[in-house]
Amino acid sequence: MEQDIRIDISRAKSSAVGKANGVSSDELRDIESRVLASHAILEEERQQGIYGFYDLYKDTATLERVKQSAARFLKNGIENLVVLGIGGSALGITALNTALNLPYHNLLSKASRKGKPRLFVMDNIDPVTFRTMLRLCPPRKTLYNVISKSGGTAETMSQCMIIIDLLEKKLGKEAIKDHVVVTTSPNVEGAPKSLLHPVASAYNLESFDIPLNVGGRFSVFSPVGMFPAAMLGMDIDAMMAGCAAMDARTSKADLMENPAYLRAAIHYIMDTVKGKNMSVMMPYTDGLKDVADWYCQLWAESLGKRFSLDGEEVFAGQTPIKALGATDQHSQVQLYREGPNDKIFNILELSRFDKTLRIPQTLTDVSELEYLRGKSMNKLMSAELRGTIDAMKVSERPVIRVQLPRLDAHALGQLLYMLEVETAMAGRLYNINTFDQPGVEEGKKIARKLMGGER
Ligand code: PA5
Repeated sequence: MEQDIRIDISRAKSSAVGKANGVSSDELRDIESRVLASHAILEEERQQGIYGFYDLYKDTATLERVKQSAARFLKNGIENLVVLGIGGSALGITALNTALNLPYHNLLSKASRKGKPRLFVMDNIDPVTFRTMLRLCPPRKTLYNVISKSGGTAETMSQCMIIIDLLEKKLGKEAIKDHVVVTTSPNVEGAPKSLLHPVASAYNLESFDIPLNVGGRFSVFSPVGMFPAAMLGMDIDAMMAGCAAMDARTSKADLMENPAYLRAAIHYIMDTVKGKNMSVMMPYTDGLKDVADWYCQLWAESLGKRFSLDGEEVFAGQTPIKALGATDQHSQVQLYREGPNDKIFNILELSRFDKTLRIPQTLTDVSELEYLRGKSMNKLMSAELRGTIDAMKVSERPVIRVQLPRLDAHALGQLLYMLEVETAMAGRLYNINTFDQPGVEEGKKIARKLMGGER
């Protein structure tokens, strides 16, 4: 029986960290009517099909196609999967890979990887990195998944051009379809044209659609994340079941029973009333460190908006920060405890790790190490986590704990789904457009012009 992830807000309450730094029951009661009104709007827009991210997990036909296609490529001897994409087209699969595959996945033998391909997510245009990836991945054994919803992003298209040219020279035009898969917006009447459509048809490439009503940073459960996930042997059915389980919780019109709404409301109050204009996401497991990165994009690009939905200049948003326990206890926590009290902390924790590692009965001459001898690393991690949370309380720093039963596909489905719904609700509370990113466009246009393109 799969377990639910649990949210513990007790350390973010005024009873724990004081009225200036924590939310009170009255404040939650006061915001409830706004949350419920926002819920009604989001629900109606969901029903109208405006936000596709909510229902991606139900698209079994697409998920089946994704799985079958992945099986076909793997049967043909693919050993490296290279994702060419940036932002929402890259961060989701990186988060899933770090969470669900073993650490150092690419360095493990094929047997230790259980036959899964190595993964390279190329989300930048650093020529040194890209050249090194090319050296590591012989084209004959490599599948490139070009992912771009707009199909016009310069970074991704430049990578795509390099790869097509390389494959054409090394393997010949005919072979390209065995080494490139495209994931982009659908090629339908009235939809914005993706430059990947003519590429797909010129080389007869397998092509997956990103639904028009799904934005990049909300697309992890579309083929953007699910085709690479299938290539990497992840349990997609369990992940979708996790989304469904969370959907059942996050569709509730009840502030205290809905973890996404409760977290959104607390973050909103923290930012707008308590002066906590930063949100730190700090997992206490290496496996979730790229979920923190994914969250940073989701929270930043969705909520950082100059104008409200009414056209008023508001400069909304809460700066997301990624951290890692216990590592960043020795780098960031000094600031978090004694610096400005302007942050809310999200501690992601596992009820249990999949493995245990005991600290041996050794160095017995060093009596000061007695407290470690015979204990497990797992226990030490729990103690470090508890130490941070308790120390934060002493410094009156608000903390929300998010507890995952374990690190598996079901829990990941729940977690990412919850954070997406939470972001949608937070956007409504800020009264901004959560789903656009006008601030990114100007820089793109200038860069294109500098490269000699059209503005
Ligand atoms: O969330 C978003 O919409 C962005 O981060 C995009 O994912 C990113 O800009 C890449 O865009 P595209 O997928 O069109 O190449």
